[in-house]
Amino acid sequence: MLEPVLKRIDDGMDASIERWSELLRIPSVSTDPAYADDARRAAHWLIEQFEALGFTMELHETEGHPVVLGHHPGPGGDVPHLLYYGHYDVQPADPVELWDSGPFEPTVVDSVHGKKVVARGAVDDKGQLMMWVEALRAWQAEHGTLPVETTVLLEGEEEIGSKHLRPFLEAQRPRLAAADVCVVSDTSMWDVDTPAITYSLRGLLYTEITCRGPSHDLHSGFYGGAVVNPLNALARVLADLHDDNGRIRIPGFYDQVLEPGESERAAWESLDMDEAAFLEGAGVTAGGGERDRSLPERIWTRPTGDVNGLYGGYTGAGAKTVIATEGTAKVSFRLVPEQDPDAIAEGFRRFLDEHTPAGCSCELTIHSAAPAIRIDPESAWLRTACAAMGDIYGREAVPIGCGGSIPIAAWARGILGIDTLLMGFSLDDDAMHSPNEKFEITCFERGMKSHAALLARIAEGRV
Ligand code: BES
Ligand code: MN
Ligand code: MN
Repeated sequence: MLEPVLKRIDDGMDASIERWSELLRIPSVSTDPAYADDARRAAHWLIEQFEALGFTMELHETEGHPVVLGHHPGPGGDVPHLLYYGHYDVQPADPVELWDSGPFEPTVVDSVHGKKVVARGAVDDKGQLMMWVEALRAWQAEHGTLPVETTVLLEGEEEIGSKHLRPFLEAQRPRLAAADVCVVSDTSMWDVDTPAITYSLRGLLYTEITCRGPSHDLHSGFYGGAVVNPLNALARVLADLHDDNGRIRIPGFYDQVLEPGESERAAWESLDMDEAAFLEGAGVTAGGGERDRSLPERIWTRPTGDVNGLYGGYTGAGAKTVIATEGTAKVSFRLVPEQDPDAIAEGFRRFLDEHTPAGCSCELTIHSAAPAIRIDPESAWLRTACAAMGDIYGREAVPIGCGGSIPIAAWARGILGIDTLLMGFSLDDDAMHSPNEKFEITCFERGMKSHAALLARIAEGRV
């Protein structure tokens, strides 16, 4: 059943890239309200794509960007039910001046792996979601239907923490929980010829602290040394957050954190991660974080705290002597399995109360909170997905962790009671969230084919 579908994918390659490019031309930046109409346009564009494949589609309004939900009954009878998830929103393009071409003008250029498409969202997640859309399209064209009952779920707020997805999943639980497994392409491969399946994702708690002091800006000569400077105080609180060994100092922060088992350590070792190359890719000469932990451990299974943005006071040209009224820091925590985002938020609140000096006050805002997830690498669906990727690559997918976060994965388990198959095809140098984001055509092509291979294995009962 697979061979003719693969041939259709090959023959339709240019048309697939053209549709993917159409989606990339819509600047569906979720964090900036100025792009709200574009987000909606992307949602409608996707609805049209699925309607052409015989899906029944619905657009659901939320307090943020709309959720797209669709259903295809499949061939009827007792077949598995897959829930495909993707996000149509993208990160902002800035700093725009560092792009070699327009971020929303997808461009095909030569790369060391053949050719690549450069655009914001090329890999995250428009290119990756179009892989399964195109696989479904090719299957439908060849066989006249799909081999599985299929639900599709597309959201426009993943990049800002999927805030309105959680209540949506709760409201639609009966329909969505009927699926057997959730399929997501939004993670990375091991390398260009080695497919990978991600079995752990970190969670994310994203917060903002505003530290306030004097009621108005003060002359730092007149008042300096006699009042608490809120920017000094904020810097102090942030510096207190880590100890000298890179550990977070919030009491109880590590209480639920699990130590890796022997087999997990052995699996990491056999991957033989190249730390020097990793650091070089980041443009740094030395690593950070917890000194006594290996690189895969630090990025996959240890929790972290990071300042993402910091501002306040005089930030214009030259010098101005002033004690400002307030300063703000955006602080996020990557969480690992068993850590409860709400409990961590509470712990952080208490930490702030204790570390803020008299004469200042710190206000804490929680922007989003999603737990981590770990999926059993030996589960039947994961094994099937690894084998399907093996059908295309000639070598089975390796299980890897991922330091990033995708809220749906934890909620699929927690709210819907189903596992998620994280079949990702991104490479480490794809510049996700950075200028000149790209996706290799070979990854796009073999990703489409891997999704077709998964469908074929299911159709043939090889699950
Ligand atoms: N696709 C990424 C997740 C990811 C990151 C996969 C790194 C592979 C490597 C996703 O779109 C993302 O950026 N997630 C945010 C989530 C957040 C806002 C809840 C993240 O990890 O920062
Ligand atoms: Mn993504
Ligand atoms: Mn992202």
